[in-house]
Amino acid sequence: METEKLIIRPIEIYDFDDICEYGCDEETGKYMIYWPKTKEEIYEFINKCVDTMNSEKAECYEYVMQLKGRTKVIGNISLVIKDTETEIGWISNKEYWNNGYMSEAVNALIDYAFSTFNINKIIATCTEKNIASYKVMEKCNMKRILFESNHKSMKNGFEIIYNKLTYCIEK
Ligand SMILES: CC(C)(COP(=O)(O)OP(=O)(O)OC[C@H]1O[C@@H](n2cnc3c(N)ncnc32)[C@H](O)[C@@H]1OP(=O)(O)O)[C@@H](O)C(=O)NCCC(=O)NCCS
Repeated sequence: METEKLIIRPIEIYDFDDICEYGCDEETGKYMIYWPKTKEEIYEFINKCVDTMNSEKAECYEYVMQLKGRTKVIGNISLVIKDTETEIGWISNKEYWNNGYMSEAVNALIDYAFSTFNINKIIATCTEKNIASYKVMEKCNMKRILFESNHKSMKNGFEIIYNKLTYCIEK
């Protein structure tokens, strides 16, 4: 898939080094439940994504983004399909933040998901503290539908409590 500035394609095992650059970074993953990861976890994660996406009834899809004309992967975006609803999530390399790249990629993937899968709703969630993430949601025309104060979740075996925002876009 091609946008103005980006190439977006399914994740591959050769993306490992580029994904480790941001995927292992504490600051980048501080508002995320499943990131940061160790290099071993990233290797396992990519392999699992590739296997899952190749299976007939795939429900999880992981895409990476590259700047046009460059091979380096600067971020990844997931789609997790449950019945007619999909949850979308994202992470990118902090060297490239605030250039509009993630919004451009997510906008394109939302269109792609609605036209490819049998879904009618895409949701995204984040903590209230993650301004950059909910800005991406808003720039992609997603609407805030839920605010849950003191939402409880588990991260690496520890309970975390945060104000959770849920955004949604319908077909
Ligand atoms: C969230 C993330 C993917 C955004 O990527 P990005 O390429 O910088 O996103 P964009 O540039 O398309 O949009 C970010 C917007 O947030 C704005 N923004 C960022 N930090 C901000 C802040 N502290 N206050 C106000 N606005 C802020 C940017 O200015 C930009 O808006 P603009 O284009 O209107 O100026 C990136 O910050 C990231 O990887 N964060 C860590 C991982 C993460 O938290 N993922 C989401 C988990 S729910």
